[in-house]
Amino acid sequence: MIVAYAPFEDTDRKVTLPVLAQKKRHQEPIVMVTAYDWPSSQAAEEAGVDLVLAGDTAAMTVLGYPATAPVTLEEMLVLTKAARRGLHTPLLIGDLPFGSYERSHEQAIASAQRLVKEGGADVVKFEGPSAERAAAIISAGIPVMGHLGLTPQTTTALGGGFRAQARTAAAARALLDDALALEAAGCFALVLEAVPAEVAAVVTEHLRIPTIGIGAGPGTDGQVLVLNDLLGIFEEFKPRFVKRYAQLRRDMVGAISAFADDIRARRFPTGEHCYTIDQGELEEFLASLAADV
Ligand code: KIV
Repeated sequence: MIVAYAPFEDTDRKVTLPVLAQKKRHQEPIVMVTAYDWPSSQAAEEAGVDLVLAGDTAAMTVLGYPATAPVTLEEMLVLTKAARRGLHTPLLIGDLPFGSYERSHEQAIASAQRLVKEGGADVVKFEGPSAERAAAIISAGIPVMGHLGLTPQTTTALGGGFRAQARTAAAARALLDDALALEAAGCFALVLEAVPAEVAAVVTEHLRIPTIGIGAGPGTDGQVLVLNDLLGIFEEFKPRFVKRYAQLRRDMVGAISAFADDIRARRFPTGEHCYTIDQGELEEFLASLAADV
């Protein structure tokens, strides 16, 4: 089996679980983005982020599925390996897709092992409150990041769309209890997605492990955005919590349109884009054609 590891050039800078714990203690914000391919993870590396998630949002943002549920473990492995090849410093989180961890501890451990062994992930994440499942994967030697609040693999189907969670006292309390249970099970960090800022702040205060928010306000220990959202590549819809830092989809359409215009107007290619042949060789070639007639 060929594993996709990139060599670690600077082990001093490598983000590890103790580094994350220290950032929480020092209240130093943790930066996380998704990346599903080599150029994106290289850009994340160069930008100096702490965590990279080869997330199942790739299902919608790069594979064109209508939801995250259809993406398979095989597909996630291809994307995770590609992300791995561009990374040296950030911790790479492999994402367990829908259907790869719910059936049993054995299934979850086997899937997590594939993300680590074949995909090159350092750790894994899965959606939902199953502390027992997290403990089982951790006991197999693989660190786990939890994910509570909006859990798109199931919440969108059961809850009728991308809606904010934990907006009642009872639901907020349940979220806190689930978060504490995941921490007790040994999770090293927790993603909180689409929950009220006040609730996320309270959960963050009650946990020793770092929380990473997406649509969870400024009170979490870190923030994550889906790369294709923040770059403005994915434009199908824009959740309230997304901030666009670029308009790359617009730039892509503009560049491809300019290419098409150049071809149709015969402005491309020009001499600078052409290979040359020695004049003597060309004449000999043309003469050989004349001799054929
Ligand atoms: O898969 C993903 O990209 C995620 C983020 C939204 C945290 O889970």
